Amino acid sequence: MLVLGIESTCDETAVSVVRSGRHILSNAILSQTDLHSKYGGVFPELASRRHVEGIAPLIEEALATAGVNLQQIELIAVAKGPGLIGSLLVGLHVAKALSLALGIPFVGVNHVEAHLYAAMMATGATIHLPAIGVVISGGHTLLTRILGVGHYESIGSTLDDAVGEAFDKVATLLDLPYPGGPEIEALAKHGDPTLYAFKPGKIRGNPWAFSFSGLKTQVLYAVRKEPQPMSSATKAHIAAAFQEVALGDIVHKSLLAKEAFGAHAILLGGGVSSNLRLQEMFEERHAGRFLHLPPTLLRLDNAAMIAGLGYHLLQAKPGGDALDLVPMTRMPLCSWAPSPVTERSSV
Ligand code: KG4
Ligand code: ZN
Repeated sequence: MLVLGIESTCDETAVSVVRSGRHILSNAILSQTDLHSKYGGVFPELASRRHVEGIAPLIEEALATAGVNLQQIELIAVAKGPGLIGSLLVGLHVAKALSLALGIPFVGVNHVEAHLYAAMMATGATIHLPAIGVVISGGHTLLTRILGVGHYESIGSTLDDAVGEAFDKVATLLDLPYPGGPEIEALAKHGDPTLYAFKPGKIRGNPWAFSFSGLKTQVLYAVRKEPQPMSSATKAHIAAAFQEVALGDIVHKSLLAKEAFGAHAILLGGGVSSNLRLQEMFEERHAGRFLHLPPTLLRLDNAAMIAGLGYHLLQAKPGGDALDLVPMTRMPLCSWAPSPVTERSSV
């Protein structure tokens, strides 16, 4: 089955053609970072306008790269949330229009769930379930137990900022452009992480919850204590110390959850999983052999993960979604698979 995936939740317009949930024929992405970098974050109204301009040519590009035409597409999958309302509406309306015009079904996909699915598709490796899913992106930070595609048990999430958001905000404090994650990672390579004693967020009575706003405030106070303008060496030390604590918290809780919830593997997804220091930290804790990451191009926002997961959703919901489906700016990670997997299995 050929699925056309559409992603427009935030500041990337993306279109992809995926065969039967796994085989990526094209993965076109139009990034808007040039548009938002001067604001230090995403400017929602500008994001929606850029989606409107970019989406039709991107569909043509994705079809051409895949070597297929619209009439061969059998399902449209679209990210229905969570995300920015104006941005979501663009993708959703295009998906509905294509579905109507072509007489084929469409399904709305949870963007956060798709980040986890990205680690399951196209890897070639067998993943033993249950696994711990770790979504670390600009909008989300959560831990979940994965029993199968479409079957999850929530463990914990952030109570305030997402980890990627913390990277972006700390980058602003260090005068680095948006998106801050890759900038902090690059700068941290030249810094000594032991020179600032930052502490991870702790939530009394909940070992699985994350909090990054306190860490961000510790960085703010450290910056204020330094003579201005800060030297690039000072910035590098702060970046390294922040990164070590923020990522260390994720590695620590993921490994603890693996033990506590009897999981066989850890699946990472979302933009922050691109961070090489994060992967190194998992390896330092001997987690390399059961750690599954999406292929590089599927770590940041993309439509291949939407098309891939959409294929599975259609199996559970023949006929797809109704045309009155509305976008959701907030959206919990819910199970939808008909039968939970209870024994050890694999994908
Ligand atoms: O998954 P994503 O593309 O979008 C959301 O769904 O939010 O993630 C974007 C986030 C941004 O906050 C960005 O700063 C962060 O991922 N990010 C990184 C790295 N690359 C992207 N954070 C840390 N290290 C990186 N190398
Ligand atoms: Zn995302």
